Amino acid sequence: MRVTVIGCGYLGTTHAACLAEMGHEVLAVEIDPQRRHRLQEGHLPFYEPGLEQLLSKHTANGSLRFTDSYQEAAEFAVVHFLCVGTPQQESGLGADLTQIESAISSLAPRLRPGALIVGKCTVPVGTAEALAQRVLDMAPVPNVALAWNPEFLREGRAVDDSLRPDRLVFGVASPAAEDLLRRIYAGPIADGCPVVVTDFPTAELVKGAANAFLATKISFINAIAEVCEAAGADVRALADALGHDERIGRSFLNAGVGFGGGCLPKDIRAFVHRAGELGVEDAMSFLREVDAINQRQRQRVLDMAKSALAQVHQPRVTVLGAAFKPHSDDVRDSPALWIAGQLYLAGAEVCVHDPEAIDTARRRFPTLKYASDPLDACRDADLVLHLTEWPEYRELDPDKVGDVVARRVVIDGRNKLDDIAWREAGWEFRGIGR
Ligand code: UDX
Repeated sequence: MRVTVIGCGYLGTTHAACLAEMGHEVLAVEIDPQRRHRLQEGHLPFYEPGLEQLLSKHTANGSLRFTDSYQEAAEFAVVHFLCVGTPQQESGLGADLTQIESAISSLAPRLRPGALIVGKCTVPVGTAEALAQRVLDMAPVPNVALAWNPEFLREGRAVDDSLRPDRLVFGVASPAAEDLLRRIYAGPIADGCPVVVTDFPTAELVKGAANAFLATKISFINAIAEVCEAAGADVRALADALGHDERIGRSFLNAGVGFGGGCLPKDIRAFVHRAGELGVEDAMSFLREVDAINQRQRQRVLDMAKSALAQVHQPRVTVLGAAFKPHSDDVRDSPALWIAGQLYLAGAEVCVHDPEAIDTARRRFPTLKYASDPLDACRDADLVLHLTEWPEYRELDPDKVGDVVARRVVIDGRNKLDDIAWREAGWEFRGIGR
């Protein structure tokens, strides 16, 4: 089928390349000329494993093209995926819907008969209903519609999550819209992907509720980690034991510096805010605590670092990891960079290493030092902080690292280093929740 994707940020670029991989002919709209040209040449403006290969394959074979013209997009296809950003408002409260509104205003007046606009971005519940009416009001032809099809992809796993999703959610108001979506996702559906067909508000809420649940799981285990520390227990064994209960499950029970990134933190705040607007703020008040536990976790690791440096004059600190999670170069709301920045402000010299995120980190925190090799980053350090669990950090030889540092003190903020090996190499080792 022919489809368009409106907005080529992280979500839109991934979706466009994966739709092409599913066999569709895709035209993607991006108004930033530099970004558009790079994409058309097959270059990804961010790091995501496997995505650049798909992008270059499908731009080369012509099944994926880029344009800045809404007119061309409206003429090209009847199905249009809306993938623009919904950042947190400047005021810090709800989601900023300016980009969605502007995309609808540009696209709707040009739609062909039978057109379907499919929202993929994360929006406050109620948005789809209002947008559906606007599309009807603005369209020059009858028989156009809106559908809501939330996206659940994770950074670092985006290609796999898109091509083999856990589930598809179709918020639709007509069988025709459902039929179009089933044709587009025929590949994953044939592979057994379950489909939940529902109304607009439920489709919108599934996304918010999923994010809220994941954030709650992480803050739950981080709160338990604090109790483990006080009781002399080990949160890793505890999480393993909990995870064997299939009602609970082991994933998202890794204690550490907490969650960050461009989605979970902003989405749970927007979710609470929207609940307040709907008059059910009390029902979601626990999410404020989830957010507070998450912030406290960063602060706790910062306090641990400061106490480890208490006797050191003009301390030097190495931070391993800058991205908010491994296999990503995204540093938005990254706990690792926040801790690095706070230590710098407290007077430490901080050197950061990350396999992919040094450029994005440097743009945000130009005052920190950066090294392209982890051993160089550790040279003369009084404290090593492991804050993003890239697999290569597990491979580091504690003896070799020990040879270059000033003091063998390490804090494993992700509980992923081999504590026995590091201790045997003479390191003072601290983890989270143990
Ligand atoms: C999240 C949701 O998983 C995804 O479905 C949604 O579409 C967007 O938001 P993402 O932000 O890419 O995806 O990453 P995710 O893997 O969910 O991790 C989020 C944060 O939680 C990271 O900072 C990660 O380090 C942290 N985390 C995750 C933990 O601290 N412990 C865990 O056990 C799992």
